[in-house]
Amino acid sequence: MKILTSQNEITTQIDTLKSLGKIVGFVPTMGALHDGHLSLVEIAGSQSDIVVVSIFVNPTQFNSPIDLERYPRNLEQDAAFLKKSKCDFIFAPSVKEIYPKPDNRIFDFGQLDKIMEGKFRPGHFNGVAQVVSRLFDIIKPHKAFFGEKDFQQLVIIRELVIKFNYNIEIVACPIKREKDGLAMSSRNILLTENIRKKVPIIADILKKSTTFAKLNSPINTKNFVVESIEKVEYLRVEYFEIVNGNSLQTIEKWDETTFVVGCIAVWAGDVRIIDNVFYKNNIT
Ligand code: PAF
Repeated sequence: MKILTSQNEITTQIDTLKSLGKIVGFVPTMGALHDGHLSLVEIAGSQSDIVVVSIFVNPTQFNSPIDLERYPRNLEQDAAFLKKSKCDFIFAPSVKEIYPKPDNRIFDFGQLDKIMEGKFRPGHFNGVAQVVSRLFDIIKPHKAFFGEKDFQQLVIIRELVIKFNYNIEIVACPIKREKDGLAMSSRNILLTENIRKKVPIIADILKKSTTFAKLNSPINTKNFVVESIEKVEYLRVEYFEIVNGNSLQTIEKWDETTFVVGCIAVWAGDVRIIDNVFYKNNIT
């Protein structure tokens, strides 16, 4: 496994491998790697000849300087973690390497980035689109692997690929959970011991809501989820929306579409947790 920091180096290496007919899979990350990332790398390894993992804490997608500052960073530990995986290259550029000059591009994703995460973290998805498009341009992978935990991000990346004609297959990878159900996230290590014990209830209630949904409307299901979570000390729901999994528009009736996802953000003390649940999945 090689660790490269310069754009020229990674481009040269990947171009050579591509000219030899190798399929290149790409897993973009911001580091602080955990088993959720590892599962993306494993899936990438099973579908590609070469796996590139980028580790870059992208400043343009943070709308809070405090959040950016306290985002966990440890390249050495991440590299050691990836050694046991199918990763062939780590691309760990500096901010200057990715943004030699300020990136002023404004992306238009219509309604997709105005709601849910986009509403509460204005500019977040523009920053994600800036960095992902930069990384796609540098690495030019055949396939890129994104976790379903960031469901809205996944939908927006698919739109980015369509809009800018990237010849890249976007592969959605299932959420990896801790034994108690909590969706794995780099931010989980910021939870205090006390609050860490409370948060598995989020996934638990989302799961219970799939049964509740069988006999109740989307709006009643939404209320069930929000009220059940907010009964728990330290948890405050920022949003919970039951949406069409393609357009991300809130649905009013279950039979409006064949792909329905419930997306949630919860403040657990001062840590923000996001998760989701599929009510109807048109893929299966
Ligand atoms: O999902 C993430 O970790 C980030 O948003 C991504 C895709 C690596 C872009 O910085």
